[in-house]
Amino acid sequence: MDYKKYIAQRIKIQGVEEQEIYPNIVFPPNSEMGDYALPCFKFAKVLRKSPVMIAETLKERYKTDEIVTEVSAVNGYLNFKINKVGLATEVLNKILSEKESYGSSKVGAGKTICIDYSSVNIAKPFHIGHLSTTVIGSSLYKLFSFLGYKVVGINHLGDYGTQFGKLICAYKHWGNAEDVEKGGIHAINDLYVRFNNEADSQMESEARQYFRLIESGDKGANEIFEWFKSLTLKYVQGIYDKLNVKFDSFAGERFFSDKMQPVIDELRAKNLLKESDGAQIVDLEKYGMPPCLILRSDGASLYATRDLAAAYYRKNTYDFYKCLYVVAYQQNLHFQQLFKVIELMGNKWAKDLVHVPYGMVSLEDGAMSTRKGKVVWLEDVINKCIEKAYNVIEEKNPELENKDEIAEKVGVGAVIFGALYNNKIKDIVFSYDKVLSFEGETSVYVQYTCARANSVINKSGVKTKIPENYQPNCAETEVIKQLADFTDTLLDSAEKYEPSYIARYAVDLAQKYNKFYIENKILTAEGDMKDFRLALTEATLQTLKNALSLLGIGVPNKM
Ligand code: ARG
Repeated sequence: MDYKKYIAQRIKIQGVEEQEIYPNIVFPPNSEMGDYALPCFKFAKVLRKSPVMIAETLKERYKTDEIVTEVSAVNGYLNFKINKVGLATEVLNKILSEKESYGSSKVGAGKTICIDYSSVNIAKPFHIGHLSTTVIGSSLYKLFSFLGYKVVGINHLGDYGTQFGKLICAYKHWGNAEDVEKGGIHAINDLYVRFNNEADSQMESEARQYFRLIESGDKGANEIFEWFKSLTLKYVQGIYDKLNVKFDSFAGERFFSDKMQPVIDELRAKNLLKESDGAQIVDLEKYGMPPCLILRSDGASLYATRDLAAAYYRKNTYDFYKCLYVVAYQQNLHFQQLFKVIELMGNKWAKDLVHVPYGMVSLEDGAMSTRKGKVVWLEDVINKCIEKAYNVIEEKNPELENKDEIAEKVGVGAVIFGALYNNKIKDIVFSYDKVLSFEGETSVYVQYTCARANSVINKSGVKTKIPENYQPNCAETEVIKQLADFTDTLLDSAEKYEPSYIARYAVDLAQKYNKFYIENKILTAEGDMKDFRLALTEATLQTLKNALSLLGIGVPNKM
């Protein structure tokens, strides 16, 4: 049962809907005051009464029962105490019977969500700037699946554009098959950088010619292009495997080359296309935006044109309930324009398109990805994190078996968590020491807590029993309440497209469990107390595992 909801439904404030009360219910800082509380400050304006008065009145009206046993009004807060025995048995039973599926639900049944994320550019570096879209998108994928939605993960490949003409030209002049096969994406990228630095006007014009050859379906040019594409995809697949990321579709920009015309025709038929300096645009001035360019004066399509075709294709193919685009906030305008154009074309589903923006990631030493200069390859960041994790483990626990495997889980987890822990819109500075700290708000800390819980369970060697009438103490109650809040956290996180809520939840739960662990004996306790504490430990371990797995992070048994 959702206790917050139970409480919210029984608070009646005139002129305030239950849905407005529910999200305002909080955990008071210490449970002496209450288990749940409603701060009344927000309602003062509507009701034109002081928060203290509001809390007093609500307290008088609230009827206690066997679930909510006590209500008090303190300094503008309405505090609730609940039947802790009931909550504890209910929550522990639920977790220990549902296990891996604890927190899952069917709210999404019958609905499809498309998620466009990671969207790599062929033959270009897969760099640290791609970390956020990859891990945020992947985590939303897992989350929505867990909530019962059908999810379609789409990698909208950047495989269209004049740069591929340049690449082929550079390859013809300076490259050879053996080096490219061996060096893969790095060798291809070197060719591209060299072209940008050294190409003269003769080569530039050759490059345009090669691009036209690709476009017109020339076999030779397309073979080279497809080869570069397969090398890039093979390379990124290695990274996706490490990060536990998967896709259902790799329909990229090229896939839409032959699907734009009908959409352009529709724009024209609906009188939305305007000529401007020979180009075809949709005027968006009325909406405070620059025009959306559909066709260049030479007739070439643009990024937006292909996205337009892609949106139609997705709607027709998947009939989505929502279509998310996990793309950096630098593209805010692009998506505003795109969604507006689709709306102007008369499509009701335009409202179901959602840009999920995120901030930039830079490294502590100031190095950042740039067009020509220094590029921080994501692969290097992951490998460095795994290596550092190995060293930390070696130092803390040299006797440990399977150190490589554990270091991989810890290192990869740290990279993912480092990118997910903050609200996604924030720019973040990635620090190896910070993400790998055992003490901070990190995945390592959470994984370590899991290893601790696991060791308690292994040592006990008995099958878990949940006692019926055990009265939990303060620290135990804090853990129980946090456990009970998991489902709600997942729903919030999905509603706001914020995996960071899950990351924070895991850290909070780990902190609460550790406080309990330090203050209480478990294995040397007796009777119901021991049984309860073991059940609490097992339920915490299970819930932490479920939370981390939604972020794509594994949990080692030992650390
Ligand atoms: N490949 C693009 C980039 O690197 C991102 C594509 C995002 N998805 C989309 N449908 N526009 O900027």
